[in-house]
Amino acid sequence: MTFSAQTHQIRTQVAIIGAGPSGLLLGQLLYKAGIDAIIIERQSPDYVLGRIRAGILEQTTVDMLHEADVGAGVSAEGIVHHSIDLVFGGKRHGIDVHGLTGGKVVTAYGQTEVTRDLMAARSAAGLTTVYEAKDVSVHDFDGTKPAVRYQKDGQNVELACDFIAGCDGFHGVCRASVPEGAVTEYEKVYPFGWLGVLADVPPVSPHAIVYGNSERGFSLCSMRSLTRSRYYVQCPVDDKVADWSDQRFWDELRKRLDPELAEQIITGPSIEKSIAPLRSFVAEPMRFGSLFLAGDAAHIVPPTGAKGLNLAASDVKYLSAALIEFYGKDGVTSAAGINTYSQRALARIWKAERFSWWLTSLMHRFPDTGAFGQRMQEAELEYLVNSQAASTVLAENYVGLPLISK
Ligand code: APR
Ligand code: PHB
Repeated sequence: MTFSAQTHQIRTQVAIIGAGPSGLLLGQLLYKAGIDAIIIERQSPDYVLGRIRAGILEQTTVDMLHEADVGAGVSAEGIVHHSIDLVFGGKRHGIDVHGLTGGKVVTAYGQTEVTRDLMAARSAAGLTTVYEAKDVSVHDFDGTKPAVRYQKDGQNVELACDFIAGCDGFHGVCRASVPEGAVTEYEKVYPFGWLGVLADVPPVSPHAIVYGNSERGFSLCSMRSLTRSRYYVQCPVDDKVADWSDQRFWDELRKRLDPELAEQIITGPSIEKSIAPLRSFVAEPMRFGSLFLAGDAAHIVPPTGAKGLNLAASDVKYLSAALIEFYGKDGVTSAAGINTYSQRALARIWKAERFSWWLTSLMHRFPDTGAFGQRMQEAELEYLVNSQAASTVLAENYVGLPLISK
């Protein structure tokens, strides 16, 4: 391919890198506030929609979708959950999340669907998303002329902007462009993965996610709709998808659940099957001059508890409010929001990191769990389901901590 020597110059107020849920939601909230933004994405729309991720939304995330005018899908198709189920020692126990939190719930609605709704709103509004951008790089975010450079269809483009929003996920270019020493990274990698299967069969537990602890390892029963199920089993991280026939998967899942639920599972051919590693990760701070990180670019949680998408949404809530304040609302402008973004976002992130790490530690078999460790987990689970105080701690974290927290 030959590239034009000339660089095409364009300008926007906020350059957003990444068209995952974080970038799209930020773009939509800024658009609604009259702030100009362009999204630069290295993949194609189909690739972005093909990634299967978690699907439990906290109420604050659902509220944000409505605020962004993309709530019709979740209202029509989302399935409200009032409780969760824990399986251990071969028995299932319900936790009344709704009752324990004064009426809060979560909603089962897939990240793919959230992304699809946001993409549709963006294209209906005629907003620019540059897909399949190559060699994306970020410049001068600690100076006075922040810019994003990329190539599109053989043309070099320079996008000048006031701010860069790094919504480009864990492997993105934004965090990687920050000078070493300016960022501190905290990481824990877990010694196992999750094998996930998507199948067009009715979910075994449509009104509550089932989290299973067994001597054979963790299992999870979830859904995308009343006709589409999502199930997981803990597996060695170096297992290959090819090692897991559909039959082997269903057999293993059944062995990890209580007999009644195992009996009720409706099996069918998988339409997606993948193995994901589990990681906890936080980068601090989340602001570097005019560059802000949001979502997976700044933090990763293991999927137990489904906090990843919800944390991305709360980052975007803080960041969009900060930028709206900066550009002025009702004739008043303020830099207070952008100056406190990192601190406010991280306060919520660390609490969700703690919850995800705790639930992961409680529900999985680790190489050193052994028979004693298994009994310790079961004793803690027994305590959890029988103590209102302990159940409340689980419930209030599961529905999501308040956005303004101390
Ligand atoms: N240039 C442009 N785009 C990039 C680059 C780059 N150099 N690197 C990555 N991207 C894009 C990816 O292709 C992806 O579409 O950034 C997007 C990041 O999207 P996500 O990884 O989905 O991250 P985020 O939007 O923060 O969403 C967080 O996704 O990973 C889950 O559990 C997580 O549910 C949470 C949510
Ligand atoms: C999912 O539906 O993919 C899911 C649900 C709950 C979790 C994790 C994943 O805790």
